[in-house]
Amino acid sequence: MAALRVVVFSGTGRTLLNTSKSIHTPRANMSFASLPKRKKIALTTIGVLTTGGAGLALMLQQSVKASDLELHPPSYPWSHNGLLSSLDHASIRRGYQVYKQVCSACHSMEYLAFRNLVGVSHTEAEVKTLAEEIEVVDGPDDSGEMFTRPGKLSDYFPKPYANPEAARAANNGALPPDLSYIISARHGGEDYVFSLLTSYCDPPAGVSVREDLYYNPYFPGQAIGMAPPIYNEVLEYDDGTPATMSQVAKDVCTFLRWAAEPEHDQRKRMGLKILIGASILVPLVYYLKRHRWSVMKSRKIAYRPPK
Ligand code: HEC
Repeated sequence: MAALRVVVFSGTGRTLLNTSKSIHTPRANMSFASLPKRKKIALTTIGVLTTGGAGLALMLQQSVKASDLELHPPSYPWSHNGLLSSLDHASIRRGYQVYKQVCSACHSMEYLAFRNLVGVSHTEAEVKTLAEEIEVVDGPDDSGEMFTRPGKLSDYFPKPYANPEAARAANNGALPPDLSYIISARHGGEDYVFSLLTSYCDPPAGVSVREDLYYNPYFPGQAIGMAPPIYNEVLEYDDGTPATMSQVAKDVCTFLRWAAEPEHDQRKRMGLKILIGASILVPLVYYLKRHRWSVMKSRKIAYRPPK
């Protein structure tokens, strides 16, 4: 049996360079030139077809892309944009007020419960009062009847319409989408919603918009079924902030960002902790790994044929 001897040179690669030239390991020849002609032709054909196909697909994709026909929202300097910036919670609180007094007439937020507001924008006592303002159908009771009771912390936000059909019927056939995750569900997130809310205008000359639709350059297709929902002084803020149109839009967008991503602040805080921890641990682990493996990595396995 052939003897396979493992020669271990501990230390760095430099040691290897100094060892005798007699240890020679042949390499398999895997280059393209060494392939038989048939395989060369087959491989070249596959290569050309793949590249051509990818190019064609890209060209087709570019030619039907309609994004040039839409106005893209600018990116606004949101106070929560920074890598370590939290959401503006006073703004979330005002945004909830905007949602409750304006948007909730048409839009549901069915994934949000009153308890979600506790510790975010309101105190527990405040949220309890808010919840008690609504009537919830509950039951059945002992006699099998449904009954209504005041809302509790665990109740979800009330819906403006019983079902999508009723919502369409009340809005000229357009369905007001649920706003719980709207910021994540639209390209551009809060930039888009802010632009949408603040950019209603007259259609340019030559463009006519069907009755019951409104011109908005940021909405895909430019004709939206939502009447301009906000304007200056559309409501009066409890905290006295002047309710200009842009302020209202900014606050409701911050609220909607929080609704779509309630873990936002937690995520950034965890991120910072992990970065600090990793900046210590990763170099340490890398050093240890190099240290442990130095023997294994710098050995050389050679085959010495039997004499
Ligand atoms: C009078 C009812 C009404 C009110 C009030 C209202 N909306 Fe709408 N909203 C609609 C309707 C209807 C649509 C669907 C429009 C369409 O599909 O053409 C819509 C669509 C939207 C969309 C989705 C646009 C898209 O890209 O699909 C957003 C975001 C939105 N509304 C936000 C708001 C916000 C924020 C408020 C409160 C400030 C609000 N809406 C108030 C009726 C309303």
